[in-house]
This record gives sequence, structure tokens and C-alpha cells, in this order.
Amino acid sequence: MPSLRRLMAVAVPMAMAAAPAMANGGTPHSQWDHLWGHVLLDLVVIGVVFGLGALWMMFRYRAKSPDDVGTGPKLTKAQAIGWALLPAAIFMADDFFLAAKGWSLFTVYRSAPADAMEIKVTGYQWYWEFDYGNGVVTQELKVPVGKPVVLRMTSPDVIHSFGLAEYRVKEDLMPGRVSWLWFVADKPGKTVATCTMYCGLAHSKMYSDVVAVPASEFHAWMESKVRQARATTDSSRG
Ligand code: CUA
Repeated sequence: MPSLRRLMAVAVPMAMAAAPAMANGGTPHSQWDHLWGHVLLDLVVIGVVFGLGALWMMFRYRAKSPDDVGTGPKLTKAQAIGWALLPAAIFMADDFFLAAKGWSLFTVYRSAPADAMEIKVTGYQWYWEFDYGNGVVTQELKVPVGKPVVLRMTSPDVIHSFGLAEYRVKEDLMPGRVSWLWFVADKPGKTVATCTMYCGLAHSKMYSDVVAVPASEFHAWMESKVRQARATTDSSRG
């Protein structure tokens, strides 16, 4: 039977090896990926350790004849309590460690940087509208790479939910309320925002492109959009 000391000798360095891997900054979505990776790693390690332990005990302590009742080792009360509490403490420490990481990541998600660019999002049955606050309104979300973006969101009709899988964010939009989320694109590319709350017949058609472009390209695009928007207002005024 492996001693408690031997168990500790395996478990403690394992927990310590995992700790520095968590010291990580980066974008919220990269931190999210990192934390999720750690959760999966823990589940795999714990699953393998317990699986192998169970297999070993099944073999080692199997009944050798039909009337074999077996004999357990005699433990003192302290040993029995130790065997119950120490492994539990080790696993709980890991759980609390991951939970604490989750809470601090939640704080990151709920604290938009002060220099973030704001875009108003409206969820309609059944499309998204993005309002940049300068007359530019689009149905495609274009953002500059490296700039944090805050989305202030509402809905005039039913509850929708703005889901950006690429950036690991999702938030409901509700009539009469303004909800928000923030993200930052760390590289150029095109992804998609989907409605993740069933909102009626064309719910599944409710998605928009989300395009991250270099800042210079974004500003050039924005300038031409502003000009376009002005031209439209001028001509409608006659
Ligand atoms: Cu909007 Cu589902």
C-alpha cells in the first residue's frame, strides 16, 4: 500500500508545477483559454491518477477464492483521518486555486479599460446593428486590432444574446436595459457574432461578420463611412 508520504511526494510537486503556468496576462480571451486549458489538464491528470489507482487496487485486492473476505490494514485514528483529509485538502486546494483564477478573470471581463472604444449594439428581430456614435451605422462590426472595444447593447423587441465565440464573450440584450461587454482583437481576421438566445423564427439567421483590421485601415474605413453618412444626411435634407 502506498504511504501517505509517497502520495504527498507526488501530489505536492504536481500542484506546484501547475502554479507558474497560471501567471499570465494577455487578452481576456487568451486568459480564458489558458484557464480552461488548466481545468482540462487537471481533469485529465486527476482522471488518469484515479483510474490507474482504481485499476491497481482492483487487481491487487481482488478475491483470490470465492470465500475470500479479505483483511484490511489496521489504521490508527490519526492515520485514518489523515488518509481522508489530506487528499481532500490537496484536491480542494486545486479547486479553490482554479476558482480564484476564475474570479479574477471575471473581474477582468467586468472591468473595461478606460481607453476602450464604445460601439452601440442593437439587437433586432433578426439582425444586429452597430452604431459608432458619429453617424456611422453598420450591420458588420469592424474593429481596430489592439484597441479594446466596449459594446453597449440593448434590444427594442425581445431578448437576444450577443455571442462572440472567438473572443469568449456573450451577453444578453434586453428591452429597456443596457448591458455591455468588452473584448480586444489581438490579430486581424474575420469572425462572426451570433445571437445565442432563441428570439423567434429567424433566430438562426441572426449573425454578423466581425472584422478586425489594422488601426490605419480602420481609420481610413471610418473616414470614408463618416463622409458617406454626411452625404446621406445632406441629400435627405435637400
Ligand atoms: Cu436574436 Cu436569437
